[in-house]
Amino acid sequence: MGLLDGRVGIITGGAMGIGAATARALAREGAKVVLTDLDDAAGAKVAAEVGGVYLHHDVTDEDGWKGVVAAAEKLGRLDIVVANAGIGIMCNVLEMSLADWRRQMAINVDGVFLTVKYCIPAMRKFGNGGSVIMLSSVAGLRGSAGLAGYSATKGAVRLFAKSMALECAQAGDGIRVNSVHPGVIATPIWTKIPVGSNRPIDPYAMAAGMVPIGKAGEPEEIANGILFLASDLSSHMTGSELVIDGGMTAGRITRLASPE
Ligand SMILES: NC(=O)c1ccc[n+]([C@@H]2O[C@H](COP(=O)([O-])OP(=O)(O)OC[C@H]3O[C@@H](n4cnc5c(N)ncnc54)[C@H](O)[C@@H]3O)[C@@H](O)[C@H]2O)c1
Repeated sequence: MGLLDGRVGIITGGAMGIGAATARALAREGAKVVLTDLDDAAGAKVAAEVGGVYLHHDVTDEDGWKGVVAAAEKLGRLDIVVANAGIGIMCNVLEMSLADWRRQMAINVDGVFLTVKYCIPAMRKFGNGGSVIMLSSVAGLRGSAGLAGYSATKGAVRLFAKSMALECAQAGDGIRVNSVHPGVIATPIWTKIPVGSNRPIDPYAMAAGMVPIGKAGEPEEIANGILFLASDLSSHMTGSELVIDGGMTAGRITRLASPE
């Protein structure tokens, strides 16, 4: 018996990183999954591995959402929605172009809005309740110099999740909505972040300095939290924040050099 036997989920940005690890975790526990992404080769590979369905879809493409929801409906129901697709642009605000600000807002915030707008009616139609999980970040809980635009998007997602949780509770539809807040996780996102120097960021090196437990998280460690929120194990949780950050938001530690 799996935790998600018989359930159907949609995962945006499922081709790699946290989305792909989530697809594997949900499928392992018995769910059928629909993955969407822009990277067709990687997305199709993950879908084949987990016995799921892959669709090319940009989360900001409103018209395309109907096809994504239809793919889940073809599998018989819709119980789980993971709004995971996101990008990070690292740049001081005064150097940021309006086009980059808008692109990040469009994917990270409009994309989550459209996810909910098209998926919740389908979940309600089947009448089984369900779970919506939105990927925010530690950057949605506190500020970071150089990540102000990204933080603005992830802070928006954090409160959007809470308000959606309340709208669903008010409607009595049995749908729970929660946000997940990863810290520094070793995924391809770090190689894509455009930084002034154009040097790729190594999440392991970065985490060694700034994560209290001294290491970067792995995508599977976030997927485990998403699995918990997707399953009935979290049945009394809605409007909550699941922080998985190796202690980053707990505070700071000082590592003293060990005595000779
Ligand atoms: N990796 C981290 O350290 C970290 C930390 C905190 C929060 N997050 C958040 O977790 C989520 C997943 O991040 P990740 O690290 O796995 O990133 P990733 O770059 O490894 O994977 C993201 C996936 O989303 C896809 N994607 C990007 N834009 C898209 C769009 N417009 N439409 C559809 N798909 C799109 C990409 O092609 C990619 O497959 C993001 O929302 C990210 O902001 C990541």
